[in-house]
Amino acid sequence: MRINNEWKDYRLIATGNGMKLEDFGGVILLRPDPQIIWEQPFDMRKYKGLNAVYERSSSGGGKWTVLKEYPQKFFVSWRNLKFNLKLMGFKHTSVFPEQAANWALIMDTIKSARREVKVLNLFAYTGGATLACLAAGAWVCHTDAAKSMCERAKTNVALSKLDGSKVKYIVDDCVKFVEREIRRGNKYDAIIMDPPSYGRGPKAKNGNWKTIFILW
Ligand SMILES: C[S@@+](CC[C@H](N)C(=O)[O-])C[C@H]1O[C@@H](n2cnc3c(N)ncnc32)[C@H](O)[C@@H]1O
Repeated sequence: MRINNEWKDYRLIATGNGMKLEDFGGVILLRPDPQIIWEQPFDMRKYKGLNAVYERSSSGGGKWTVLKEYPQKFFVSWRNLKFNLKLMGFKHTSVFPEQAANWALIMDTIKSARREVKVLNLFAYTGGATLACLAAGAWVCHTDAAKSMCERAKTNVALSKLDGSKVKYIVDDCVKFVEREIRRGNKYDAIIMDPPSYGRGPKAKNGNWKTIFILW
């Protein structure tokens, strides 16, 4: 497993009892993680300054409960990449901090190519991998079915002071877009895919997406 600790203002404070306690730029959050099967080191719900807890519902899903007011806009930075955060459904915070190890690999790989690289980022969300590609000098096609995600990625590109002219945003189903690109004969040097395990594409008739990460 790859790890990366170059976050400037994100911190994993503690884990246990199926939950993780994290500091996102001064906003303290407690949220579920089913991989955490060990005991908590202290009562994380009593952590001083805890802003919000994501509570699972017995009927499925869940919701954030705010315990202490937090700024309307809050941010985290990794290297020179900056993310505007917001609490979202499915216990999301608008960024997956554990992806930083992949962003480091993406940046190293693009830089070592020593030529213009064209990347297709599928299920691109708020743009973590897109920002990493741009920062390394690549051209990116950022594809996500949600218009709001493409808008938020655009904001993160601007916040990170990256060259927005090197990214094209496509709001569409990834499978349909890839099929069109194949018909048009468009080619990419690399494809990044991080589909949600819970989501279903119109063509995923036999079950949910399987999460994979591919880098050439
Ligand atoms: C788990 S997130 C990807 C995380 C991202 N790679 C990152 O590290 O920041 C899943 C994203 O896939 C998008 N999505 C889900 N189903 C899709 C589909 N069929 N086509 C395109 N995008 C889809 C969602 O809108 C969401 O933004």
